[in-house]
Amino acid sequence: MTRMISGIKPTGGLTLGNYIGALKRFPSFQSQYQTFLFIADLHALTLPIDPKMLKENTFDLAAFYLAAGLDPNLSTIFLQSQVSAHSELNAILQNFVYMGELSRMTQFKEKSLQMNDSAIGLGLFAYPVLMASDILLYDAEVVPVGEDQVQHLELTRDLVQRFNHRFGDILVIPKAQLGKTGTRIMSLSDPTKKMSKSDPKGNIELKEDLSSIRKKIMSAVTDSEISIRFDEKLKPGISNLLSILASLTNQSMEMTVASVQGLTYGGFKTKVADVVTEEIGSLQKRYQSMIKSGLVQEVLNQGAKRAELVANATLQRVKKAIGLW
Ligand code: TYM
Repeated sequence: MTRMISGIKPTGGLTLGNYIGALKRFPSFQSQYQTFLFIADLHALTLPIDPKMLKENTFDLAAFYLAAGLDPNLSTIFLQSQVSAHSELNAILQNFVYMGELSRMTQFKEKSLQMNDSAIGLGLFAYPVLMASDILLYDAEVVPVGEDQVQHLELTRDLVQRFNHRFGDILVIPKAQLGKTGTRIMSLSDPTKKMSKSDPKGNIELKEDLSSIRKKIMSAVTDSEISIRFDEKLKPGISNLLSILASLTNQSMEMTVASVQGLTYGGFKTKVADVVTEEIGSLQKRYQSMIKSGLVQEVLNQGAKRAELVANATLQRVKKAIGLW
């Protein structure tokens, strides 16, 4: 059965961008593929993070995985740090990725831009190597992510080709799987920038108060026209709200645009706010009941055991191929 894998970093409150670009889509793959979903806690260390926050965020994220509809009987849900093969394969693959390639990664450039060179951790620079290890250990062909991760997937594909060329058919070439809409949800306060965990003014957090979410949508930056159409260049704010609406209602962009014709910007925003608060409201309820259920820890323990079986087999295959004992 084809394998799918994806992960999210527990670096802060999950955003609507993470939800639409990744989390919301995960459960739909469970019936088609053998699915592995992990929490990228080692990746969370690539920027400074308080230990208590990291622990809390990790638990929260696991609860959100379950609240979003991941079923531990169908999916293997685990923590990256609890399957040591991720770190071991990372140590091996580091030797097959080049500094030049890593310096071209947009995410690295963006994240390191405001930092002093002497304060940029090696982990941040080598981030895509660990990410490649995460994917390749599971022989995953399908990797559902948002647009910002596509470049890392391309690097992973190049790495596999390079590795297989030298050692034989050892690793499986993965492919990024993007949603039809909402692959890049933008900031509500500046729709030319990606919505991110580190921008509380422009983002919507999944744990946020529903009234605060509504307020942010109603005051989202748009433009001074009156027409509602999808044009990311000329109308980034309206297009972003349309993407959010289309993604949450599972409708095509065409149908979504047609469904809001005749509305004022105020009416349109109200509709988006209704849909978003309803979706996040019910997600929050399921999240609360997951927290209360006490199931989270057990799911992660079982998940790590199952993941380990698959990951260790791949690691052995790689070690053997390159001449390690
Ligand atoms: P993270 O936590 O930064 O993002 C998690 C997922 O959310 C998507 N995403 C978005 N999608 C649409 N619009 C946005 N504004 C937006 N912001 C974030 C990201 O594309 C991602 O899919 N490097 C990964 C974590 C990871 C991983 C992996 C993923 C580590 N190893 C292996 C897949 C496979 C990341 O960016 O996490």
